[in-house]
Amino acid sequence: MAGVDSPALDANVLIGHVLGITPEQVVLRSDAELDHEDLRAIDVAAQRRERREPVAYITGTKAFRRLEISVNRDVLIPRPETELLVEVGLALWDASPGAWAVDVGTGSGAIALALADERPGRWVVGTDCSPAALQVAAGNAQRLQLADRVNLCLADGASGLNLRGVVVLANLPYIPAPALGTLQPEISQWEPSVAVVAGSDGLAVIRKVIAQVGRGQARAVAFEIGLGQAEPVAALLRQAGFPRTAVHADLADQPRVVTGTRVS
Ligand SMILES: C[S@@+](CC[C@H](N)C(=O)[O-])C[C@H]1O[C@@H](n2cnc3c(N)ncnc32)[C@H](O)[C@@H]1O
Repeated sequence: MAGVDSPALDANVLIGHVLGITPEQVVLRSDAELDHEDLRAIDVAAQRRERREPVAYITGTKAFRRLEISVNRDVLIPRPETELLVEVGLALWDASPGAWAVDVGTGSGAIALALADERPGRWVVGTDCSPAALQVAAGNAQRLQLADRVNLCLADGASGLNLRGVVVLANLPYIPAPALGTLQPEISQWEPSVAVVAGSDGLAVIRKVIAQVGRGQARAVAFEIGLGQAEPVAALLRQAGFPRTAVHADLADQPRVVTGTRVS
């Protein structure tokens, strides 16, 4: 399939999506007879994938932590590495009983919803600058029955929120604009650029939000970061009033999350 990384797996996921079965069941039923309608639907899905449309946009869903998140082209597809941000964020949140958590740049709502799902009885705010993304997040919150504990609001970063004492998590765009062309077409041609690119060094939005959370006296913060950004982001956090910083590596051993904590 048109230069995609994992054609066999993608084919099984797409066939399974059409037939309403898992990719593993597709393998077990490889000699099953399909009717015309199924064959046509599989052909349409394969043609979309050949144009390098991400599998998750074709199926409309992506697994994240314990949840199935609905996605469309208005939102970034939640990534496995972002599960580390949730894990690190939960530890910070558990150390702040009673505090709200804020997910800045919530997109599909994946982080905010995972936090609310994994800590029943606690409250989360999700912000985004994209009204279309917030609509997707709101749909997910309703379907997952978490809307009563996840407030969604349109904002530039965390502007307008009372941040005093809260825990802030953020997976904001962090790809430098000049690097966009080097990314897989699935990202550069299909995902919203506002969710991916942030100025010439990739730090334009993170820098703005660190200034906001510093001024707002957030208690602890965790940012997902890209290549070469751990040190600059840790330095920005220290300057903004979070003297204790730490860097967490993902499963591929890449620095992926930087945390900052205020000393009280
Ligand atoms: C990398 S995506 C992450 C989406 C989601 N949090 C996740 O992890 O899957 C970044 C999100 O930040 C939003 N965003 C970009 N700039 C922003 C800003 N200045 N204020 C608020 N949200 C912003 C984008 O619309 C997008 O939804």
